[in-house]
Amino acid sequence: MGNGLDKVLARLGLATDAETPASRSILGFMSKSGFNIPDKVIYVCTGSKCKKKGGKENGKLLRDRIKEAGLKGKVEVVKTECTDRCDFAPVMCFQPDNYWMHHVTEEQAERAFQEHVILRKNAPQATSDE
Ligand code: FES
Repeated sequence: MGNGLDKVLARLGLATDAETPASRSILGFMSKSGFNIPDKVIYVCTGSKCKKKGGKENGKLLRDRIKEAGLKGKVEVVKTECTDRCDFAPVMCFQPDNYWMHHVTEEQAERAFQEHVILRKNAPQATSDE
């Protein structure tokens, strides 16, 4: 499937080969609705403190890198409101790695993108059972 839906189906205990009625139904709905589930999401705080301290630029840089890497739709940047960590602005988080960063510079954002998106793109994903 390659759009993250296989992970959702696996978490629901449904076959990932789309052979059950439930998984066929979910797949059908997802494909018809255009509802996309990315493999990775980078949450970038763009609350007032983070925005002033580079959060907006970090978000733009990451969106540019996603586009350049041809990962649009597979990796998304989601802007968030204040995450209540203003003393550590700017803040961002890579999911599903649960890798949080604070006082992030563009260089650090770039490096984290390479490590958590590009280098791990084809690596097996850890599960909560590990
Ligand atoms: S504005 Fe980003 S943590 Fe508050």
